[in-house]
Amino acid sequence: QTVYVLNGPNLNLLGTREPGIYGAQTLDDVRQLCEVACTRHGLTLAFHQSNHEGQLVDWIHEAGRLHASGGLAGVVLNAAAYTHTSVALLDAIKGTGVPLVELHISNVHAREPFRHHSYIATAARAVMCGFGVAGYGLAIDAIAQW
Ligand code: DQA
Repeated sequence: QTVYVLNGPNLNLLGTREPGIYGAQTLDDVRQLCEVACTRHGLTLAFHQSNHEGQLVDWIHEAGRLHASGGLAGVVLNAAAYTHTSVALLDAIKGTGVPLVELHISNVHAREPFRHHSYIATAARAVMCGFGVAGYGLAIDAIAQW
């Protein structure tokens, strides 16, 4: 089975982007951490990042097709800023029925009020934030038990 790990806008800048909030590890470090977690559970990793909302929608649809054929373990979605704006991502998750963890590196609830609302949380099976990039590995550990 495959785990989709999808990353939204500006996460390609991890490592140099506001390191006091997001840490010093790069997106490639995150990919490697996810690879290690998937290997531990005998899962295949599909890891993507895009700055474009529609591309993220397309990847959720792709995961949805895999879900329909029994090949999907789950999705980890860090939709980044689209979390707080995107009805399209919410509809994609609802429309495909993919089992999904909403993930944030930072504790969004301890930050600006506009980060406190998520459009996608109501369609997520689980929500996690504030564990730093280690959260990705923890989310994959959880998905392996679904
Ligand atoms: C984020 C939190 C979002 O509010 C922000 O827009 C991001 C990253 C996080 O991982 O902490 O880009 O999703």
